[in-house]
Amino acid sequence: GKPIEIDIPEALRDFEADLSVDSPQPQQLGRLGRHWRWFFGGLAIALLLGWANYQLPSSERSTSSPILFVPAKSGLAATSSWRALPGDLLLGHIAYQEAPTNSLSAVVADGSIKLRQPAAQSFLAMGQAAKANKISLVPVSGFRSIADQTYLFFTLKAKKGLTATERAAVSAPPGYSEHHTGYAIDIADGSRPATDLEITFETTPAFLWLQKNAARFGFELSFPKNNVQGVSYEPWHWRFVGDQSSLETFYKGQRIQPKRSGNP
Ligand code: DAL
Ligand code: ZN
Repeated sequence: GKPIEIDIPEALRDFEADLSVDSPQPQQLGRLGRHWRWFFGGLAIALLLGWANYQLPSSERSTSSPILFVPAKSGLAATSSWRALPGDLLLGHIAYQEAPTNSLSAVVADGSIKLRQPAAQSFLAMGQAAKANKISLVPVSGFRSIADQTYLFFTLKAKKGLTATERAAVSAPPGYSEHHTGYAIDIADGSRPATDLEITFETTPAFLWLQKNAARFGFELSFPKNNVQGVSYEPWHWRFVGDQSSLETFYKGQRIQPKRSGNP
């Protein structure tokens, strides 16, 4: 037959030829070739615009798309580990719904600390397993309402004289805390009270035990070192992702499956 039209880019000729096995019409192949040019031209322009957007300081970047791409580590060199967060962000924190009160279940005897029922059940089982290894996991904070978080973020953090961005590094704004979901829990080591809610918690037997075992109970560290949200490292703050609802709460809308945490 006739040779294949020469205006098909060299790299695509084999592919075009395969497509045309049943109807090797030279004219059709020519049209396909031109379509490929539009496709790759458009792709190049989109990539260039996206790249240019990320040359801007973060405050001036376009965030109008439903997905906001955030480098896993600062700098463009980390392109291979880019991940996407849902677009509804405030100071790096993601918006969450308050868990309905009737979905909550106590994790301490006096009922003052609660999680969603499946998370509470799994946390208690994890506490038992830790206890069998002579490790004491003590809940410090579980579900928090938006009102609780308002007090924490605006009243307590104002007392400490922190600016909005400084507050956001250590605390989520109301409406944007993982604690609203009823799936997040701050854990302390009963044998090391001085490390409660401190970075030094990472040196405790409880933390080392959690790193090895929490995943078996559906828990993971929310804010490892250098997390994409820019939130301070919180070795005490763990979240339940062990059922469909919790998994969707934290991962729905994210483009790439985040790396396993707990190994900061
Ligand atoms: N403590 C973390 C930032 C939260 O509340 O989500
Ligand atoms: Zn927390």
